[in-house]
Amino acid sequence: MRLHVVDHPLVAHKLTTLRDRRTDSATFRRLADELVTLLAYEATRDVRTEQVDIETPVARTTGVKLSYPRPLVVPILRAGLGMLDGMVRLLPTAEVGFLGMIRNEETLQASTYATRMPEDLSGRQVYVLDPMLATGGTLVAAIQELIKRGADDVTAVVLLAAPEGIAVMERELAGTPVTVVTASVDERLNEHGYIVPGLGDAGDRMYG
Ligand code: PRP
Repeated sequence: MRLHVVDHPLVAHKLTTLRDRRTDSATFRRLADELVTLLAYEATRDVRTEQVDIETPVARTTGVKLSYPRPLVVPILRAGLGMLDGMVRLLPTAEVGFLGMIRNEETLQASTYATRMPEDLSGRQVYVLDPMLATGGTLVAAIQELIKRGADDVTAVVLLAAPEGIAVMERELAGTPVTVVTASVDERLNEHGYIVPGLGDAGDRMYG
């Protein structure tokens, strides 16, 4: 698994405001959207392209266009939905699938309550969106499902990650073609499975 922490002053600035408990829901959603677009720029660095011949008004030249099949973008409901617009702004031709997952607040086990994705993802590049990588249970289960369906390149775009969750992903997804792109790896998880210092519960702050 590859880990890419995006080091950029605009990313740090927006993340700081997201963390602030005084930031209201409307501002939180807008900033999360902007932050995702910055992360998406880094996350799509290896998006597959093919060469095309074109004519400018002046001369013939070659360029690139996104390859077929199109990338698939999968937000993990609820909170991942707040990242969808920011991602497809950069990948407007992407196909979009959905995974509804919830983490039990006591056991911290993730379970899936909704799935709407193509059955066959053979040869597909997939971008999974979820603001928080805490224990890692949610993303591990999501990515295992994508790989089972044939995805051969999965990038998880997360706003924040905990070192514990990264370690779980490295262990559970060893040998799979997975990249995690995040704005920050925070200090730790607390006893309730919250990222510290984190930003609280992203789903509640967006939609609560
Ligand atoms: C949160 C968050 C992630 C998950 C991370 O979702 O949005 O999906 O927990 O935790 P993990 O890494 O320990 O599995 P939550 O279950 O609160 O659902 P929500 O998005 O509907 O609020």
